[in-house]
Amino acid sequence: MTMREEILAKVPTVPGLPAAVMKVLRLVQDPDMGVGEIMAAVELDPGLTAEVLRMANSAYFAGPRKVVSLRDAGVLFGTQRLLQLVLTSAIYPYAKQPIRGYDLSAGQLLQHLAAVAMGAERLAKTLKREVPQCVFTAGLLHDIGKIVLGTFLEIDGDAIVNVAREKRVSFERAECEVLGIDHAEVGAALLTEWGIPAEVVHVTRWHHQPDEADDDTLATDLVHIVDILSIECGLGVGVDGLNYRPSQDVVDRLGLNNKIAEQVTCGMLADLEDMAPQFSRTP
Ligand SMILES: [Fe+2]
Ligand SMILES: [Fe+2]
Repeated sequence: MTMREEILAKVPTVPGLPAAVMKVLRLVQDPDMGVGEIMAAVELDPGLTAEVLRMANSAYFAGPRKVVSLRDAGVLFGTQRLLQLVLTSAIYPYAKQPIRGYDLSAGQLLQHLAAVAMGAERLAKTLKREVPQCVFTAGLLHDIGKIVLGTFLEIDGDAIVNVAREKRVSFERAECEVLGIDHAEVGAALLTEWGIPAEVVHVTRWHHQPDEADDDTLATDLVHIVDILSIECGLGVGVDGLNYRPSQDVVDRLGLNNKIAEQVTCGMLADLEDMAPQFSRTP
C-alpha cells in the first residue's frame, strides 16, 4: 500500500463530530427544516448547548446583544448562523490543540480558521458580492486536513518542511512529494466522510490550488485569498506559510487590489479580537 492509500484508508477512523452536530448538519441541508428543529437537535447535547451560547455571545456574532438561551440564538441568527455557531463550537476542542507536524502551537490553528471564516465573509462584503452561505463554514474547516495529518496520523512534518525549503515549493506540494497527498485532499476526504455539503468540500479541496478545480466558485476564491492574507499577518503561520502565493486568476476574478486587501486584513484582525474572550477560555 502506498502512503497515500494508507492515509486515505485511515480517514474513516478519525473520530466523527458529536451526534448532535451531525444531526444539525443533516437538518440544515433540508430546506423544509426550520430553526426550531435545529435547536431541538442542539438541546439534546447539553455541553454543545453551553458552548453554542458561549460562542453566540461573542461580539462577532451577537454585537452588543446578550443571548441567554438557545431560543434567543435561533430567533436572532436564523438557520445558517446557528449552524456556524454549532460548527465553531464543535471544532473548537480539535483546533485549539497544538498541531505537531505543522509547527502550530496551541490555539494557533483555531485562530487561523476563525480568521479565515470571518475574513472570507468580510472580503465578500467589501467586494460588494453576496456572501456565499457556505463560506464561513468552509473557512472554518478548510485546513481540517492538518488536524487529521498532524494530530491523528502524526505525520513527520520535518521531512515535509525540508522538501519545501530545499526545493522552494509550497508546503502542500511538499506534502504531496513526501506523503503522496496534501492536507487539502485529506480534509476534503474527511468532510465527504462526515457528509458535509459539497460546496464546503470543494473549498477545502481547492483552497491552495483554485486554478486546478474543474469549476471556480466564489467561496473557494474568497477562502484562497483570505487564507493568504491571514498567513501574511502572522495568523497560524506554522510551516504552511512557505512559498504560498495567490492565484492571479482569482485576484483578477475578484478585482482584488492592495487597498481592499488591507481593509479586509484590518477588519479580520478586529473580528478576531471580538472572538478573543471566547477562544482564550480553557474548557
Ligand atoms: Fe491549507
Ligand atoms: Fe489555511
